[in-house]
Amino acid sequence: MKTIALLLMLNTYATTCKPARTDFITLRNQGITARFIRYGARLVSLDVPDKQGKPVNIVWGFDSEAAYRACKTDPYYGAIIGRYGNRIAKAAFTLNGHTYQLDKNDHGNSLHGGLSGLHTKEWQASFKTDTSVTFTCESPDGEGGYPGKLLISVTYTLTNSKGLRIDYKAITDKTTVLNLTNHAYWNLNGPGSGSILRHTLMIRTDKYTPVDSLLIPTGEIKALAGTPLDFHYGRKIGVRIDDHHAQLHYGKGYDHNFVFRPHSLQTKLAQVTGDRSGITMSVYSDQPGLQFYSGNFMAGKNTMNGGAKDNFRSGFCLETQHYPDSPNQPGFPSTVLRPGETYRSTTIYQFSAEK
Ligand code: GAL
Repeated sequence: MKTIALLLMLNTYATTCKPARTDFITLRNQGITARFIRYGARLVSLDVPDKQGKPVNIVWGFDSEAAYRACKTDPYYGAIIGRYGNRIAKAAFTLNGHTYQLDKNDHGNSLHGGLSGLHTKEWQASFKTDTSVTFTCESPDGEGGYPGKLLISVTYTLTNSKGLRIDYKAITDKTTVLNLTNHAYWNLNGPGSGSILRHTLMIRTDKYTPVDSLLIPTGEIKALAGTPLDFHYGRKIGVRIDDHHAQLHYGKGYDHNFVFRPHSLQTKLAQVTGDRSGITMSVYSDQPGLQFYSGNFMAGKNTMNGGAKDNFRSGFCLETQHYPDSPNQPGFPSTVLRPGETYRSTTIYQFSAEK
């Protein structure tokens, strides 16, 4: 009974359809086509018109669902990430006097929800229209070490104004921590077109959370001005990526959380343009952080869309989120979710192309 009541609270569970297990789920609107799979509720491809009006896929993905499952070195391509996006130091946190031990899957720390993270889940496609799909899943109490049974829904929508909107919702039956995001790797010239270093990036903030050598935040919120991490006024990603700077050395490039406080879904956090395609992606979110990751761990190990190799820095991620390691950082915004509350967050990736 309790489960049914919780499901009804997430109103998107109301209608159920069951596509064949291996089908790609396709959405279309305003000349944009998006494809998804249930495994990890992943965005597999996104075709967007370039400056000539020709559709270009701008997301790294495999050509079949089986390839995702078979991939031994899956760096979370296109997946929903949780229960906690990014790292939790020493794979542990304390809540209400109890210390919870999580999966250690990154140098003694916990990354992206651990071994049974949401990227490994078989999600249900619970509701589908031509322009939107809602994926739902349940994470049992104690999964990955996290307290509380969690019910999660993620709705992807292709909007009427050429955007991909992602709405996240979740409820829990015990007090827990939660930080959901999507891990699409973008290349606005198209996967297989080379590195992303000539893309122009603007991140509209002047602060970030510096990290230590294992990419755990030091707890400080520091100014970007004068550092090679400052993208406030826009420049090509590659211009300073190999500068001698401790933060770039730790990240092997950009792998940092940018700080946005206060702001709303109407605030543009970031904008990127592909130098060849002319496609611009703008990022809007109600989340207080944005992880810019420049594909530094990509190593050409996987053969992906149309035979392309996922080479070093050939994709980038802009993950809207709470700050890494927040459960251990009292100075960061809280990621605690309690029974009776509904976790909600929204991100919009908006597209256009200049002639
Ligand atoms: C990113 C993270 C990187 C790396 C990557 C997956 O979200 O910031 O440090 O872990 O995921 O390879």
